[in-house]
Amino acid sequence: MTSDFLTWSTALQARTEIVLEQHLPALASAPQTLHQAMRYAVLEGGKRVRPLLAFAAGEACHADPAQVEIVACAVELIHAYSLVHDDMPCMDDDVLRRGKPTCHVEFGEATALLVGDSLQSLAFELLSSNPLGKTPAQQIAMIKLLAQASGSRGMAGGQAIDLASVGVALTLPELEFMHIHKTGALIRAAVLLGAYCGEPLSEQQHAGLDRYAKCAGLAFQVVDDILDAEAPTATLGKTAGKDAEHNKPTYVSLMGITEAKAFARELHRDALDAVDGFDHGQRLRELADFIVQRSF
Ligand code: IPE
Ligand code: IPE
Ligand code: MG
Ligand code: MG
Ligand code: MG
Repeated sequence: MTSDFLTWSTALQARTEIVLEQHLPALASAPQTLHQAMRYAVLEGGKRVRPLLAFAAGEACHADPAQVEIVACAVELIHAYSLVHDDMPCMDDDVLRRGKPTCHVEFGEATALLVGDSLQSLAFELLSSNPLGKTPAQQIAMIKLLAQASGSRGMAGGQAIDLASVGVALTLPELEFMHIHKTGALIRAAVLLGAYCGEPLSEQQHAGLDRYAKCAGLAFQVVDDILDAEAPTATLGKTAGKDAEHNKPTYVSLMGITEAKAFARELHRDALDAVDGFDHGQRLRELADFIVQRSF
């Protein structure tokens, strides 16, 4: 990671925090416990990779940062909701997230469930109450994109497959299908929504960005699987070794760690190739580097 990338990403992580903070309900407003729990689940934590991807795609497409920050935060709200539900006892049953007790441990299961529901609604409130894209029709298409990426044909569908696959020996195409949905869909939405805040794309540029997003999204979950097997809990901020303990099919369980790492490198190369034609694609390229080289 270059110091220039570090400066860029640190500034935009801070910007993301400010915009999220502004749009989350105030602590003092009723119902206070729900609002406290929503803020707990979203603020002061996480790498903010999806917002950074939206900003990077926005830069590649000459977008207005004031629009990009809205889509960046909307995707992050959906992501935060997915983590709150993912950690609940009915799903992965985790007690640690972003270095803190998980939302249901801190606030109880019923509140955690409502936090997820409310963060999802807030994401769509954000997308629909600020002007986005060049026309109202484009804005509606952007809202639809995030809706599809979040629902049963996107993230939630991937999570359903994940839960149904405990102890099951998936084939590689089945595992890829699961990962592309549970993690890839929101990452693709972050990239495309950031880009749609900018200048119209040629067909070739659109295909390149889509391919980048698909490779980066899959690489992200492959590396998540590797880190679960290799990294310490203290670095991850979430309990390590849970996939093996819960008998989850992962790239590590299917291919072994060496092959999984080689696959992540291959996806990294493909992601870089896909955005080769973007003169202002430097941040997208650096984020692809970060996604496969990260240690947390
Ligand atoms: C973790 O996502 C869950 C997956 C989709 C793999 P992140 O690794 O982006 O989690 P945060 O946002 O940085 O905590
Ligand atoms: C979670 O995947 C994906 C979503 C939350 C949609 P994991 O279950 O592997 O994520 P972690 O490892 O708990 O962060
Ligand atoms: Mg899970
Ligand atoms: Mg989990
Ligand atoms: Mg994981």
